Amino acid sequence: MSSASPQPQDAHIERLDDLEISRLRADFPILERSINGSALIYLDSGATSQKPSCVYEAEQHYYESFNAAVHRGAHSLAVEATDIFEQARSTVSNFIGANENELVWTSNATEALNLITYSFANASAGLGGEAAKRFALGEGDEIVVTELEHHANLIPWQELAARTGATLKYIPVDEHGALRMDLAEQIISARTRVLAFTHVSNVLGSITDVSALVALARNVGALTVLDGCQSVPHLPVDVKKLDVDFMAFSGHKMLGPTGIGGLYGRSELLDAMPPFLTGGSMITSVTMEKAEFLPAPMRFEAGTQRISQAHGLATAVSYLEEVGMDRVAAWEEHLGERMLTGLRQIPGIRVLGPEAGAARIGTAPFTVDGVHPHDVGQFLDARGIAVRVGHHCAQPLHRALGVNASTRASTYLYNTTSDIDALLNAVADVCGYFGVSK
Ligand SMILES: Cc1ncc(COP(=O)(O)O)c(C=O)c1O
Repeated sequence: MSSASPQPQDAHIERLDDLEISRLRADFPILERSINGSALIYLDSGATSQKPSCVYEAEQHYYESFNAAVHRGAHSLAVEATDIFEQARSTVSNFIGANENELVWTSNATEALNLITYSFANASAGLGGEAAKRFALGEGDEIVVTELEHHANLIPWQELAARTGATLKYIPVDEHGALRMDLAEQIISARTRVLAFTHVSNVLGSITDVSALVALARNVGALTVLDGCQSVPHLPVDVKKLDVDFMAFSGHKMLGPTGIGGLYGRSELLDAMPPFLTGGSMITSVTMEKAEFLPAPMRFEAGTQRISQAHGLATAVSYLEEVGMDRVAAWEEHLGERMLTGLRQIPGIRVLGPEAGAARIGTAPFTVDGVHPHDVGQFLDARGIAVRVGHHCAQPLHRALGVNASTRASTYLYNTTSDIDALLNAVADVCGYFGVSK
């Protein structure tokens, strides 16, 4: 288990229960909806989470009372908007254990990961001067990822390798989707310059052993990039304890609005990296020939920023902090175990991912023997149950597991035990309906 794994067995964690969850659900009006004549059971939080009303009310309040462009105007409204924007940075950076100047706002995790790879490509092309040389890649250098990755933490590295001549390698998974840690030591070598890996698999919900991988990378002087998209919403995450160099995450998966995400980077690294996007608000001086750039985070925040979204995300983070991330993690582990145990008992269901007992968040990926996941999804939708079907932007992982697609049920703090039981009943009925017998 990584140091950020939930520890629900700890006596000091007072676990959430169905009664508390039912109170908290009142903060999420969408959960009152009915879908196809049944009450909505939302089990697709791995794709995007629902939002408590305080999040969009915060955005509305911002527009009603403070709207102005930040970091520019000398007028009062602009000063107040800037305060709100920077206060949001402080709240969110504190949530992940970072300093304020170590959090760059991005549109989402995808942009955060592309920011790193485009910056490294710029360094490789000679931009950024002496300080940026440590990010320059070329022939003979290696980038290492894993076979677990979401396409957002794979394709940008493929493109970086193609642009620089570096070689892309990966740590494979076994037939259950467990990372082959026994091979990691050989794959991560003196040639490795970057190790990029996911904290939690978006398909399997399995938690990666971050400290073991970081230790291997540190041994060879490689930079580490963590995809925190599926961990930051669900587990207590502290980037300093994890000791990673960079981490990407998305606001919309953690109760926040769409259009906002973040990149954590150690300040000495961010300050030395060449910018990705250039333009207004990220410079100290400009002539007709060249520009000098501000330190991080502003050197990476060109153009008018996502102000209401940052405020909305900070409100979401305060909400999560009030509930307590250790309690969120423990509740989801409880839901996940119930879901995985129940699915394993249904004949014809193959649960993907590591065996029982492995560290996972509350996500259950499965296939139904002989039934296409789209049919499974449609059947569940007819009962108001929302799940994700397809390859979940992880085609190589599905290939390694020997399937083209799967069905994924993913929980969050607003799911109840009865949501899980409704899913299990419906999946058993899918098997009956399609005549699955095994
Ligand atoms: C593990 C992981 N990484 C990256 C992403 C990309 O996130 P976004 O689409 O918000 O940029 C996702 C989204 O599902 C994800 O689950």
